[in-house]
Amino acid sequence: MRTLAAVLVLSLAAVAHGGVLLQGGPSCPEQHGVQAYAHPESCNLFFLCTNGTLTVETCENGLLFDGKGAVHNHCNYNWAVDCGHRKADLTPISSHGCEYQFGIYPDGHECSTHYIKCAYGEPIPHQCEPGLVYDERIHGCNWPDLLLEKCNPEAVVGFKCPTKVPAHSPAARFWPYPRFPVPGDCHRLITCVNGHPRLVSCGEGKVLDESTLTCEEAEYVPHCANRV
Ligand SMILES: *[C@@H]1O[C@H](CO)[C@@H](O)[C@H](O)[C@H]1NC(C)=O
Repeated sequence: MRTLAAVLVLSLAAVAHGGVLLQGGPSCPEQHGVQAYAHPESCNLFFLCTNGTLTVETCENGLLFDGKGAVHNHCNYNWAVDCGHRKADLTPISSHGCEYQFGIYPDGHECSTHYIKCAYGEPIPHQCEPGLVYDERIHGCNWPDLLLEKCNPEAVVGFKCPTKVPAHSPAARFWPYPRFPVPGDCHRLITCVNGHPRLVSCGEGKVLDESTLTCEEAEYVPHCANRV
């Protein structure tokens, strides 16, 4: 993370916060482009140089500065930021079910395939990729078999893993993680992990070859070739 020199910091001490234009004294090390620098004391604040013009900026409620945040105005979700010795004020400003003005929250249902993203205190519903559910621990979507206390992966994926598969079948080749095609969906497959199903995407431009249960470039899988 970039920090401005101590001499600059000292001369900023008396300056009010919040996008204030600083005149005289401190100057930006670079005169072109936009650079953000950590404030040595506050994790809520940062210095912004815009074509050589220096301002002190404040992260929105729920966000902090770590030099790599891109959630909003160079700031990042507080749970993703390591403030080190910088102090963080995390007093929530709540509205419309958003604890902080900016944050990611569960939608209130256990094992939900949806979650809420708050921006400026407005909740915006988001949907996980098919087969995934919201996991509070990672503030994102995850395999339902990693949330067994809350989730029924069979219900989320719509598939029940068999306890055994025919010997020499394509699925058996992948034991203990047998694979299965998804009827009518060339772009995904189901793999079983500890007896629970995971819906896995083949990735960009690839489709499932049902004879080998591997993902291949679409042109090599005739029956899916026009389904990219
Ligand atoms: C910085 O200056 C360049 C060239 O004068 C200009 O094109 C650009 O828009 C400026 N950037 C900002 C963020 O003001």
